[in-house]
Amino acid sequence: MKILVLFGTRPEAIKMAPLVKALEREEDMEVVVCVTAQHREMLDQVLEVFQIKPQYDLNLMQHGQTLSQITSRALVGIESILKNEKPDLVLVHGDTTTTLSGALAAFYQQIPVGHVEAGLRSGNPYSPYPEEMNRMLASKLATVHFAATEGNVDNLIKEGINPQTIYKTGNTVIDALMSVVTPEYVFKHSILDKIDYNAKKVIVLTAHRRENQGTPMVNIFTAVREVVDANPDVEVVFPVHLNPKVRDLAQTLLSDHSRIHLIEPLEYEPFANLIGKSYLILTDSGGIQEEAPALGKPVVVLRTETERPEAVEAGTVVIAGVEKDAIVTETNRLLQDASHYKQMSGAVNPYGDGTACEKIIRSIYKLRV
Ligand code: UD1
Ligand code: UDP
Repeated sequence: MKILVLFGTRPEAIKMAPLVKALEREEDMEVVVCVTAQHREMLDQVLEVFQIKPQYDLNLMQHGQTLSQITSRALVGIESILKNEKPDLVLVHGDTTTTLSGALAAFYQQIPVGHVEAGLRSGNPYSPYPEEMNRMLASKLATVHFAATEGNVDNLIKEGINPQTIYKTGNTVIDALMSVVTPEYVFKHSILDKIDYNAKKVIVLTAHRRENQGTPMVNIFTAVREVVDANPDVEVVFPVHLNPKVRDLAQTLLSDHSRIHLIEPLEYEPFANLIGKSYLILTDSGGIQEEAPALGKPVVVLRTETERPEAVEAGTVVIAGVEKDAIVTETNRLLQDASHYKQMSGAVNPYGDGTACEKIIRSIYKLRV
């Protein structure tokens, strides 16, 4: 069976990497890796860590790319690769522009599509934007759906997807996380290795979502400054996304504070271990809402809703929204109320047990029968 694995951004790469490795170990499967490189540097960081050498690299990233540009260029680029390789199955991941373009390109050539991390829904087509629509469209285009949780399975069934094409597998992010986090980890980084993680309360901040760019991001960064000023034992580490809109604002609002460290995007290994050594996480990221609870770190989500309710229900994730005062209140509560912190920092892992790749592969074998 020839399987073409397609991805293009950092989060897809992190979550597909353990699956590529596991597929490569299967004697009956031939794996072809194709990257759109919707991201360049942030994708390459992951390819290097997991030692993946794609057979195809469309090298699509342009600075300030619009959704239409990246969608159309990916669609055309993927078409010729599919014509050349004629795979039996195309695997796409999640909800990015690469995901939608890949699923559509495969559908046009009547090649079955497997959708990894299927069934996440926020219920709002504009948040996350455009990811909510991308994943709904990917579900329509896919032949087989690998859902992480029971809730994700239910979402698909509610939209009329045939239950016999859905497999509950857990999320491959836990497989990836477990392969890189160790308590003994030592940073090789001029800023991270100087921080005393026991004496200080380290907050890891990430922000990049399109719908947060502009006023919501100004609110987020202003809230972070207020929190740091009110809590002398806090240090903030912000690996700044390479999106110029995020970088410019972070530079303007956060660069001149001695306890706020703006650093370049981290490779996956140091980043995952930084979560492990931190006190709490402030983020609008999707993947980090899955990783931090698994490491017992409370998450304040900088968004108005989430497609990942499992950790909210388990009590380790709180949705703060994008207004300054609410973000300050939720963060200060975690910093100043020890019993609240204790309640939110119990490790929970609703997203899998590190065997998602194995389950996905077993499901793929069933497709052949
Ligand atoms: C995309 C995904 C989003 C995911 C995010 C992960 C879509 C619609 N959105 O966000 O789901 O959460 O990636 O980070 O696909 N850039 C670089 N180097 C890089 C990566 C980005 O310079 O390695 C800069 C470029 O100027 C690029 C910009 O960041 O144009 C934005 O990248 P893009 O892939 O368009 O980001 P989003 O669509 O916002
Ligand atoms: N991540 C990383 N280095 C960083 C920041 C994040 O490796 O400096 C990882 C993080 O552990 C998670 C993924 O990147 O697995 C999340 O990516 P991002 O927030 O860009 O996208 P999202 O998950 O929101 O789609």
